[in-house]
Amino acid sequence: MEQHHHRGNFGSSIGFLMAAIGSAVGLGNLWGFPYKMGANGGAAFLIVYLVLIVAVGFPVLMGEIAIGRKTGRSAVGAFRRMDGRFPLVGYMGVISGTVVVAYYSVLGGLCLRYCFGFLLEFLGLNGFSATGAAFFESFSQSTGALIVCSGLFAGITGLILAGGVQKGIEKFSSVVMPLLFVMLVALVVYIARQPGAAEGYRFVFSPDFTYLKENFFSVVTTAAGQMFFSLSLAMGVMVAYGSYLSKEENIARDAAVVCGADTLIAILAGSLVIPAAITFVGPDAHLSGMKLLFVTMHEVFYNIGGKFGLLLGFFFFLVVIIAAFTSSVSLLEVSISCIVDRRIDRHQPPKRRTVALACTVLVFVMSLPVALDAVGLIEGRTPLALLRHLFASLPAQTWNGSFLDLYDMLTASCLMPLGALLTSLLIGWRYGTKTITDECGIRENRLLTICYKVIVPIVMLVVLYGQIRSFFG
Ligand code: PFF
Repeated sequence: MEQHHHRGNFGSSIGFLMAAIGSAVGLGNLWGFPYKMGANGGAAFLIVYLVLIVAVGFPVLMGEIAIGRKTGRSAVGAFRRMDGRFPLVGYMGVISGTVVVAYYSVLGGLCLRYCFGFLLEFLGLNGFSATGAAFFESFSQSTGALIVCSGLFAGITGLILAGGVQKGIEKFSSVVMPLLFVMLVALVVYIARQPGAAEGYRFVFSPDFTYLKENFFSVVTTAAGQMFFSLSLAMGVMVAYGSYLSKEENIARDAAVVCGADTLIAILAGSLVIPAAITFVGPDAHLSGMKLLFVTMHEVFYNIGGKFGLLLGFFFFLVVIIAAFTSSVSLLEVSISCIVDRRIDRHQPPKRRTVALACTVLVFVMSLPVALDAVGLIEGRTPLALLRHLFASLPAQTWNGSFLDLYDMLTASCLMPLGALLTSLLIGWRYGTKTITDECGIRENRLLTICYKVIVPIVMLVVLYGQIRSFFG
């Protein structure tokens, strides 16, 4: 009990849910999901996505939370306590969590800049030197400013975490997540009332089953990759959050709520981002990648016009920032919690604040390459340019175009699918499904066992293959 007290714990069921939903709802929902859905068969993609959530996302999410609560330890310690031979999966989570938060800080820093810019413009001050592509390109390439913004984002993340589990993560998430939801719904309603919205909905949602049939493999890998990134799986996040959860809590229900809320917000974002882009910028707007968020959405609110447009722009980027903060908090918590646990196991004082500071500095340093090549815009500083000093004939591929892509390739394509694969194999073949269902207070279930033993591993192998292929294409 004494030890439990040292590590921290969630104060309430709703607090845990806000934190877990906060982790799941991030840039992946607001930005990745809408354009991937639009480009991969609309509602047909959504059906595949939903099937994958039920058959893969839900069991893995429930398993991770259960492993955390059962062992009372975060990623590394938890997997070690489950079976001394496999702390590796925990270490993989720590590495990928840290790498993702490094590039997340740069993206979050950009969002901070846009939010602040809209606020200034609304107040009648000069918030942006230009609109659309011109601003994005000039700001990203003013390296110092981008580094300051990324540092600010990482610093605030660290500050929240220094507050601890209950007074930091839980309190922050419980305040901002309802705000996010209300603002998002208001923006969706505003767009729905625009005359051009229907065309946008058609673009995002109209089902294209022919596309699905002809590109089945790539649709499944895209949907599965998006799904487990969106649910924050295979990073040790849900293990750590589960370890702070009270024994009375119903894990199966919570996992279902997190899956539902995450999907709902992704669909709401789908009804907002692309329809807004098509309505206010036109069908030729950039509808994918960085430019969707930082060029097209910037133009959207200028084209809405007046103070009102600027205010909406401020709210939109506030929604994105909240989503990004609650996700980066959870990502950085993975490494912090592992170090704190290790100290506690060695009977040392946890020193959470010092650890939080050290991890924040590390993440900031790791974010520098991402900011220095201006997310790929400064060609001489990309991984491709640097590696060509060593391997003159290295071909240009998706992964080496920017440090952001390199970090993304390492995590989303390698470590995360591998982590989810190993987690399900461990649950299915070593710990046994019963260990998980007992912890969750539900009956052992044949279907669940088949998921852990066969379905999840197969899907993750397919994702691993598909992602690696796409990065080296
Ligand atoms: N789920 C977040 C998103 O959709 O953007 C990103 C994320 C957070 C991924 C935490 C992984 C993670 F552990």
